[in-house]
Amino acid sequence: MNTREIVRYYERMAGGNDYLDRYFGALEATGSTDNFLKQNRFFSLYQAVGHVLKKGLPGDIVECGCWKGHSTYLMAGLLKEADWTGTLRVFDSFEGGLSDKTAEDRRLRGDTDPTETERQKQKFASDFDAVQQVLAPYPFVALHKGWIPEVFDGALPSDARFSLVHLDVDLYQPTLDSLRFFYPRMVKGGLIVLDDYGSTTFPGSRTATDEFLGSVTPTLFLEGHLQSAVLLV
Ligand SMILES: C[S@@+](CC[C@H](N)C(=O)[O-])C[C@H]1O[C@@H](n2cnc3c(N)ncnc32)[C@H](O)[C@@H]1O
Repeated sequence: MNTREIVRYYERMAGGNDYLDRYFGALEATGSTDNFLKQNRFFSLYQAVGHVLKKGLPGDIVECGCWKGHSTYLMAGLLKEADWTGTLRVFDSFEGGLSDKTAEDRRLRGDTDPTETERQKQKFASDFDAVQQVLAPYPFVALHKGWIPEVFDGALPSDARFSLVHLDVDLYQPTLDSLRFFYPRMVKGGLIVLDDYGSTTFPGSRTATDEFLGSVTPTLFLEGHLQSAVLLV
């Protein structure tokens, strides 16, 4: 389906629901056609932004992995309407796509064809200027281009604190590196949303999260019924 057909489908099936309005509005604005089936996962993110706003949590918000900006756009719309005053910091390689897989990212089946791995890596490459343009209505969004974790150095003040982190980088190493970097910088009651925790295509995200959970004691860890998981610091 192309973007218009997806939006028409939605208008027939689900019009009037605040979350779905925003989900499909952001899908159309960013041209993220491949995200047609991410409604369930992004609902956790929508609720997490609501939690931050309702509790008035201090600190900035972070997204690791934005691709064309679908989830960023969804969050930014909610934050703008609430007159939120922080910075939404987005980290991605943009034109680089996914970083290289490690052994933890290999599935039991598949992944033996190097051209398939390269195709997957390139699929998630995006155009920095195009993403910047689509997010222009939200001047509180700061795009940080580079590889995780190196890009974190120098991008943030040393005393930076965060209320919400959306981790959507698919792979083991950047997931683990992001958790190690941001978890100690979260405010009490802050949330980390793990988009790929239950993914069978990208098993490294769960491996990294479970490994990290062996070293910390969060207030709560909830696995959603369809892929994403939420960690309450
Ligand atoms: C599944 S996409 C993100 C989807 C996005 N949240 C959305 O709403 O469509 C994964 C993203 O992670 C980024 N990524 C993966 N590994 C990375 C790394 N080591 N450093 C920086 N970006 C990385 C890719 O460039 C890609 O944009």
